[in-house]
Amino acid sequence: MLPLFIQKKLNRLRRSLWAAPMSIVPVPFRGKAKGDATIAGEIADHEKQAGYAHCAGSLPLRTLLRIEGLLPGALINSAETGCGKSTIFLSRIAQKHRVFCLDDRESGEDSSVSYFMDCAATRLDRIETIFGPTQVTLPLYKDHLAYDLVLIDGPHGFPFPDLEYYFFYPHLKASGLLVIDDIQIPTIGRLAEFISEDAMFEEVECIGSTAVFRRTDAPVFDPLGDGWWLQDYNRRRADFSGHIHLRDGNRRKPLTFEGRF
Ligand SMILES: C[S@@+](CC[C@H](N)C(=O)[O-])C[C@H]1O[C@@H](n2cnc3c(N)ncnc32)[C@H](O)[C@@H]1O
Repeated sequence: MLPLFIQKKLNRLRRSLWAAPMSIVPVPFRGKAKGDATIAGEIADHEKQAGYAHCAGSLPLRTLLRIEGLLPGALINSAETGCGKSTIFLSRIAQKHRVFCLDDRESGEDSSVSYFMDCAATRLDRIETIFGPTQVTLPLYKDHLAYDLVLIDGPHGFPFPDLEYYFFYPHLKASGLLVIDDIQIPTIGRLAEFISEDAMFEEVECIGSTAVFRRTDAPVFDPLGDGWWLQDYNRRRADFSGHIHLRDGNRRKPLTFEGRF
């Protein structure tokens, strides 16, 4: 096992290499779509015209290709929070794709909705768009399918990805994939850590800062009950000897993100 600081440096290097535009990546490392042979080229063409990402940031095309490679079958039903390049890709590999996102089209060129809607490669006929904050739309939405793939990449502040997880986990099929982006954000990392230890999921891999989990055939954890004592994340940490999980983390001075977000 490498020392932690070397592991961290290697992870950072791997993440930035992985996010590099496909055109500068040597051909053998570009990745290929499993089903649709033209999809990668079509999205790469869109990237040249519309930019590699909209202003909220996009998943690298290589990450999307890798996720497709991990899916158990073709003709999937999928859903995502947030939208953009992932929406273009998922509209091509899914027969039905639900998108829960903000309608940001008034922000012009920066819009993540326009990024997928104005792309010739997008199959708009396969997409159902549910506009509005997921904090409002997901609790009200009743038409979920059994999903083969759910991508959580909408609002990133705590507890919004956790909330989205709550509304999606009962609808994932056994062997379906749960993808959580931006696990470098501490609270999202904690969600990913919780899921990686839960009986309902097995960790498949981390692609850069995107974590992929596969639904096991463990029964659905009752979304209307309790049962914290049944969850491995708690069972591994609860010692009842007076330790409380408050202020047990890293308490460095908060960073300033001025000008970055
Ligand atoms: C990081 S981007 C998603 C990137 C996308 N997966 C891609 O590959 O291009 C985050 C998205 O979440 C949307 N968003 C932010 N807050 C939201 C909220 N409260 N409810 C729904 N969507 C939200 C943003 O408008 C943006 O589309």
